[in-house]
Amino acid sequence: PKINPTAVVIFGATGDLTQRKIIPALYHLRLHNRLPEHFVIIGFARRPYGEKEFRMLLKQALEDFSHTHPIDQEVWHWLEKNIYYLQGDLANPEDYIKLARLLETLPEAKYYRANHLFYLATAPKYFPVVAENLAKAGLNPQAGELEQRRLIVEKPFGTDLNSARELNAILQKYFPEKSIYRIDHYLGKETVQNLLYFRFGNSIFEPLWDRKYIDHIQITVAETQTIGSRGEYYDAAGASRDMLQNHLMQLFSLIAMEPPASLEAESIRDEKVKVLKSVPIPSAEEWIHNSVRAQYGPGILGGKTVKAYREEDKVSRKSLTETYVCVKLEVDNWRWSGVPFYLRTGKALAKQFSEICIVFNRPPCVLFANSTKKVARNWLKIRIQPNEGIHLLFNTKVPNQPALEEAKMDFYYRKYGGHYFPEAYERLLLDALAGESTLFTRSDEVEYAWKIIDALRNAWNEEDCDAIPLYAPGSMGPVEADELLRRDGRYWGPPP
Ligand code: BG6
Repeated sequence: PKINPTAVVIFGATGDLTQRKIIPALYHLRLHNRLPEHFVIIGFARRPYGEKEFRMLLKQALEDFSHTHPIDQEVWHWLEKNIYYLQGDLANPEDYIKLARLLETLPEAKYYRANHLFYLATAPKYFPVVAENLAKAGLNPQAGELEQRRLIVEKPFGTDLNSARELNAILQKYFPEKSIYRIDHYLGKETVQNLLYFRFGNSIFEPLWDRKYIDHIQITVAETQTIGSRGEYYDAAGASRDMLQNHLMQLFSLIAMEPPASLEAESIRDEKVKVLKSVPIPSAEEWIHNSVRAQYGPGILGGKTVKAYREEDKVSRKSLTETYVCVKLEVDNWRWSGVPFYLRTGKALAKQFSEICIVFNRPPCVLFANSTKKVARNWLKIRIQPNEGIHLLFNTKVPNQPALEEAKMDFYYRKYGGHYFPEAYERLLLDALAGESTLFTRSDEVEYAWKIIDALRNAWNEEDCDAIPLYAPGSMGPVEADELLRRDGRYWGPPP
């Protein structure tokens, strides 16, 4: 995509996200010649830094977090000379006037003019504050302006439907929807983008993509890490808000959506929203029946002792926050009626992997009725990460025996073509710079996803309990999650 000269302003510029994701992403974009010649980065944060210290911080961040090494010094020098720092208080309107002045007076200003990309890499409570203060300083989009002022908003986007609606309303008061880029970094992953390309770029899978041929679909995002130092945030969020409402719901809508009219952002987002709208909101009772929440207890993971979630730093000792969640969703439309979608995600699990399994109907077994084993279903496994790839499980004859056995066809991206795999944030920043919003979530999308998750959380809140099931760190989650499938005559695909 064509990128115009731009000034990127990062709010929360000395924070973790800037160091881990944003700066490495901008560096790689430059490394691959995707940034325009006239480009500046302004860090806005409270620490009393000068330009020199800020640049040093970012250089160190690049050394620590870049996914390629060594760092190309020429590229870094180019980036460095375009980095500025403004010490400011997010809540102080005066500091935004200073920002406006800085934006106008930098030597590159004659090129980027009002092409400003504001990145909200702050704590969520500041999202509305920054938007409002930008507007007070005249830094929101102005009528008749040819250049674009855009806003990137990090997650979490609200903590429930009401707060998401309020946040949408405030942001949209100052920035039109088309200039708001809500991040869900899963959409920036190559393998997630591939879901559409794979589904609609082949003629052999899509005809099977419905209730006639598919028995059920599983979506797993399993993580080995524990909560670590994120206790304060996580204890208020839990897996349902931290992962299910956003990343898993995105995978779900991409796998279930109808073919869009075009690859334009609005066509794709329309179809994704339709999927969310087709999920009948379960009653509290149904939700309890169709969901499992659990917490990791104490144990051993990868040879290391892990303390129970309730013993983690900044976590309530009586916490009911789930570090694991599993749900069964229905989609009430022509394509999917009767096909369950099982979604699960958790921390401190045995393996780190994200995978979507499409499990097909069992063939009629008349020909193999005498076999001692049931004919296995065909599985199509789409591995989102790591070892990105696609695997097809099917039955073949055992040579020299009148029996079937399961065979597997494997495709691994990394063995194929030697392509460069960009990090999710590289793609997302590039798209936001280009004004391409397909890989960002639209306001209604966020709200519909919250509607589903709110109902789930309300059902849990109504349950009168002082503990939730525990699972052992290093396991694949609580037995209740296995039971949820077993009672339907199904089982989770084994971890890779
Ligand atoms: C973040 C969550 O959004 O996604 C984290 O807040 C989680 O809890 C992370 O670990 C997972 O992202 P990835 O790209 O490592 O799968």
